[in-house]
Amino acid sequence: MPKTTTEQRFAVASVEELPLGARKIVEINNRSIGVFNVNGQYVAVLNLCPHELAPVCKGRVSGTTAVSMPGQYNWGQEGEILYCPWHGWEFNLLTGDCLTDKRRLFHYPVEVEDGTVYLLWKGKT
Ligand code: FES
Repeated sequence: MPKTTTEQRFAVASVEELPLGARKIVEINNRSIGVFNVNGQYVAVLNLCPHELAPVCKGRVSGTTAVSMPGQYNWGQEGEILYCPWHGWEFNLLTGDCLTDKRRLFHYPVEVEDGTVYLLWKGKT
């Protein structure tokens, strides 16, 4: 029997629960997922670091050192960088990209409707 792709929508938070810089970790279909408000943009990522599977969404969110001239240290991307709590790898929450490796965070689509943040889940049945 062929598998079919289904799409589900889960209410994960109200916008009041997720002010700027806030996060909420939820459990959906036996997956731990972190939902973040990154400078006004809602982002959902699998709570699993692609390095050695740490609960990456429990790491601190901050910025990082931007490309700059030798001897200069310019801070940038404040509120967009998630640091893995185990080994400190840095991930761009908006893109999922690791700043020092090709591995990426797994993103889920998110939408906001009537003050509620929804995660869109696509899966095979
Ligand atoms: S497990 Fe995340 S950086 Fe190592």
